Amino acid sequence: MDIPGKWNDVLVHQTDPYNAESPPGALASQITPLDSFYSRNHSSIPHIAPEGWRLRVDGLVDRPLELSMDELRSRYPERSVVATLQCAGNRRADLIEIRDIPGQVSWGPGAISTACWRGASLADVLADAGVQPEAAHIAFTGADVSQQAEPPQPFGGSIPVAKASSSEVLLAWAMNDRALPTAHGAPLRVVVPGWIGARSVKWLKRITAQAEPSDNYFQIEYSILPAEADPHRVKQADGITLGPIAIHCAILHPGKDAQLPSGPTEVTGFAFAGDDRTVERVDVSVDHGVTWAHADLDPPENLWTWQHWRATLTLPPGETELIARAWDSTAAVQPESLTTVWNPRGYANNAAARLHVTCRP
Ligand code: MTE
Repeated sequence: MDIPGKWNDVLVHQTDPYNAESPPGALASQITPLDSFYSRNHSSIPHIAPEGWRLRVDGLVDRPLELSMDELRSRYPERSVVATLQCAGNRRADLIEIRDIPGQVSWGPGAISTACWRGASLADVLADAGVQPEAAHIAFTGADVSQQAEPPQPFGGSIPVAKASSSEVLLAWAMNDRALPTAHGAPLRVVVPGWIGARSVKWLKRITAQAEPSDNYFQIEYSILPAEADPHRVKQADGITLGPIAIHCAILHPGKDAQLPSGPTEVTGFAFAGDDRTVERVDVSVDHGVTWAHADLDPPENLWTWQHWRATLTLPPGETELIARAWDSTAAVQPESLTTVWNPRGYANNAAARLHVTCRP
């Protein structure tokens, strides 16, 4: 399997389908090395020979297209965007601690990574095909068939035409100046910056302009159900379909259950505001939220990436809980409690980050 170097460094949850998260060291850099980039799959990784591969663009368009990789590269200007990709299941492990979520991957805080993506702008391809006014959604279909759906079906999903027509959405063939690795969707994947990773469909085969959102199993699976719902018995309308990522942050240093000397300690982490929002402030508390220190926050590289932060806090001797919460440019702040955000599939956990440490006197 083409999973370059990942076995050494990433935290592997499953080998087939291959699901692995980035380790804390990799989360500390602005761009995640390819070997440490998280992977989220719902079936075995397909290996696609680029020569025989074609991208179909169909549905509510004036000129349906069928494009080879060479045609894609020569017909549209190459564009690049640095963007953070985050799985909607990131930090599910914390939700599982308060109530079990059977059958779902227990992701820690590392189902998130950042790359420089290169490829054609989806907007250019859609303009070429001529999207008709009745089209409200752009649906994507991948080549991998997942047994998770009954009957099995290819992975897919959709985004509204307005987002699909924005210049940041790419059909990517390169990642960090290397050819897109097979594990990340070669020969071509969608990259939808600021939206949950599930909409960035890998091994892309087909783009369809349509009036309604995709009815693909995974478009519906990636939704928030009411806390009391049984995920095996729900109706489609019961869920809130996930799209833009909600503001959240993680503490990277010190590590989980660290034992440290008391006194001034540097605490670091990252925060990510989805869609076209930026992180405006990160607050950190060592006294259960009675007082908050304001972290130094890196400026945003663009609208589409995480921002790292650091604060020096005086840790008292004994047991301490560090709490970090981020605010975005719409003044949305992370909810305080995991109970507020718990949902039966364990998606979109953006509760404030909490870390237990023990300090020597
Ligand atoms: N695309 C296909 N075809 N199959 C998949 O299983 N997983 C999605 C998305 N695109 C998936 C897919 C999910 S849930 C996420 S979070 C991202 O891909 C992960 O991308 P990565 O594995 O490159 O990190």
